[in-house]
Order: sequence, then structure tokens, then C-alpha cells
Amino acid sequence: MRTQVVIIGSGPAGLLLGQLLHRAGIDTIILEQKPKDYVLGRIRAGVLEQGTVALVEEAGAGVRMRHEGLVHDGTEIAFGGVRHRIDFQRLTGKSVLIYGQTEVTRDLMDVREASAAPTVYEALDVSIHDVQTENPKVRWCADGKKFEIGCDYIVGCDGFHGVSRQTIPENELRTYERIYPFGWLGILVEKPPVSDELIYVNHERGFALCSMRSMTRSRYYLQCSLDEHSEDWTDDKFWEELTRRLDPEAVKKLQTGPSIEKSIAPLRSFVAEPMRFGRLFLAGDAAHIVPPTGAKGLNLAASDVGYLSRALIERYKTNSDLGLDAYSQRALARIWKAERFSWQMTNLLHLVPGASGFDQKVQGAELEYLFKSTAAQTALAENYVGLPY
Ligand code: FAD
Ligand code: DHB
Repeated sequence: MRTQVVIIGSGPAGLLLGQLLHRAGIDTIILEQKPKDYVLGRIRAGVLEQGTVALVEEAGAGVRMRHEGLVHDGTEIAFGGVRHRIDFQRLTGKSVLIYGQTEVTRDLMDVREASAAPTVYEALDVSIHDVQTENPKVRWCADGKKFEIGCDYIVGCDGFHGVSRQTIPENELRTYERIYPFGWLGILVEKPPVSDELIYVNHERGFALCSMRSMTRSRYYLQCSLDEHSEDWTDDKFWEELTRRLDPEAVKKLQTGPSIEKSIAPLRSFVAEPMRFGRLFLAGDAAHIVPPTGAKGLNLAASDVGYLSRALIERYKTNSDLGLDAYSQRALARIWKAERFSWQMTNLLHLVPGASGFDQKVQGAELEYLFKSTAAQTALAENYVGLPY
């Protein structure tokens, strides 16, 4: 078996890359270790930058997104029980689109299936070989049988715990990491959102976020400690705690109901450099993680794929390696901006265990400055809607 590009992982990064390459006439195979329904069952991000929307459209998977996605021209930040609006449109001329990662994934899977490009679900024990030669290979097991495929390039889109980054010798990678001493407990509920826009809440009991997937489906998050388990959070306990952290107007609008999903995500910042080893490239969470506060994880995965797809297409069309050689540096320049923004938003909005009275006062002063300063709001809005790449 032989193909041009082997893609490991069918999350948003792998699927988007697969479709962009397919449309340029480049053959790919996607190897995914989980069943398709498992991939579609993961509830994750919900905020798409315009650049991400454009790439999904370029991949031919934008029809439902354009139809069902909600355009948000701003967001709100609540502090001391008072909400303040950051007006993205006025400050930057841009908006974001609310459309769930699950839906993006489903749409990309559908166009891939329609194009008959191959995806192997439940591909187990994926291993990567010979990436420093011109004939790299990937092996895996499926249905009790062993497979091997030769290719020109391998792209690791297999998330933080995937095999691709782990294949690169330790002395070839530099890693940077920060682990935050709290997590996010998220629930999804079939009820209308409390507001037309997202509300990020800094509260003395901890951070909260009111988000949505549609005008009838809401997503809420609560800052929780790392030793908590989602099973210990009954729906009633969740609504009670959320009610304590929201402003009175939001509490009045809050419609509670049985959760259809509930999970805890730890918060982490992580970057591995460079994002290439021989003919193996990394994209998305395989190379970097941001804490979710800035809504950047999925958007960074998409921007990596934007750079890498262009570089691979250039390679096949013109035989030039320039784009591939520049990929890691280009992607990392954007990644570090998103790392900085996500770290800053996380520090601004959470109750940090062990923070001194001084630290808390400075955090409050920073928020007050943001609410008064057009320059500070513009900086936040520019980063949130997405710096150009
Ligand atoms: P993934 O979506 O992780 O996809 C990787 C794929 O590779 C998976 O399907 C996995 O099964 C597969 N895979 C892994 N190992 C192998 C292997 N060895 N062989 C074959 N396949 C393999 N971002 C936000 O912006 N907002 C959020 O609210 C938010 N919430 C999140 C909640 C959780 C629990 C997590 C884990 C992430 C969250 N993120 C969020 C981040 C965002 O979802 C990710 O940045 C995004 O999914 C990255 O896409 P990806 O394709 O790079 O990786
Ligand atoms: C959502 C997640 C985020 O991390 C965020 O900053 C905004 C929204 C969400 O899941 O809807």
C-alpha cells in the first residue's frame, strides 16, 4: 500500500487537512484509533474565528455551518456582579461564529465520506517509521490484522496523547509547559442560553462561563478543583453553584434542566518545538495545548492546518520545499501569541488557589482597567476574534 500523505487522527485538524489536500488532488489516508461515534461524542470547543470558518468552507464543509452557526459580534465579562460588553465588531470589524466542534467534525466526516477518501477507524497500535528517509512508513492493526503503508509525508494530528509527538526523539524536541491548579466542569443542556452572547464570569467563588451551541442548547462551565470528579456533581449541585456565580439578570434568565453531557477538563499550556522531524509534521493539539479560556484550541489546530496544507500543495505543485521548511516557524509564531492570550485570559478570570490578597487586588484592577480602556478592549477583541495568519 502507498499514498502521498498519511494523517494520524480524525479530530478537526486531521479531517480539515485531509479535505484541503483531497481538493488539491493529493491522496491521503486518515488513521483514527477510536470508533467514529466516539469521536463525534466528544463535546469540546464552540467558538470559531473567521479564519477557521474560511478554511472549513475551503474544505467544502461550510454549508450547514453558515446556515446554523450563530454570528457573535461581542462577548460579556462579568465582575463584581456587573456585566461589561466587549464589542468585537466596533473594535475590530470582525465577529466570531458559534458552531460546535462536534458539528464541524461531523460536516468534515460527511464530505470526506462523499469524496470516498479513505479513513480507517479503530486503527490500533499505530506506529511511525523511517521519517528521516524519503520513504516513511506507518503500521497499524485493525480487525486483528497488521497493515503497513508507505508515503511521502506523515502528519500527526493525533492530539496531546497521540503517538506522533512521542515518536520524535526527546533530544530533538524542546517542550514548554504550565499546568494550572484548577479545571473546568462543563455541562451541555437542551435549554435556551441565558443571553444572546457568551458571558465570562470572574467571581469570588471561581470562574464561570455561559456559552451555547444554538438558541435551544446551552453549554456552561464552572471552575473546579483538580481532585473533583464529574460523577460527584449532580445536576442540582451544578445549577446551584452556577446560580451563585452569575449576576441577578442572568440568574433570572437561567433555564435549568437535565444535563446531556458532563465532564471535567484540566487546564494546561504546552508547546513542543519544532513541529517537524524529517518527514513527520505535527499539527493541532499534538504539538500544543492552550487553556480553554481564550477559545483558541480548535482555532490554532485550524491555523496550523492552513499553513501546512498550503505548504504541501506547493510541494506537490511546484516541487518546492520552502513552505514545508518554513511551516514550524510560521505556525509557532502564531501559537505563542495564542499561548500568551490564553494564559492572560486564564489569569484574569480565575480564582487562583494560593493567590495573595495583593494578587487578587491586582486582578481586580486589571479588569477595571479593561472596562475603562478602549486600547485594552481592542487588544482583547483582536486576540479573541483571531490575529490574521
Ligand atoms: P483532537 O481533537 O484531540 O483529535 C485527535 C484525534 O487523534 C482524536 O480523534 C484521537 O482519538 C486520535 N488519536 C489519538 N491518538 C491516536 C493514535 N495513537 N492513533 C490514531 N489516532 C489517534 N478548546 C476550546 O477552544 N474550547 C473548549 O471548550 C475546549 N474544550 C476541550 C475539552 C477537552 C476535554 C479537550 C481534550 C479539549 C478541549 N478543547 C477546547 C481543545 C480543542 O478541542 C482542541 O484544541 C481540538 O480538539 C484540537 O483538535 P486536534 O484535531 O488537534 O486534536
Ligand atoms: C466554549 C469554550 C471555551 O473555551 C470558550 O472560551 C468559549 C466557549 C464553549 O465550549 O462553548
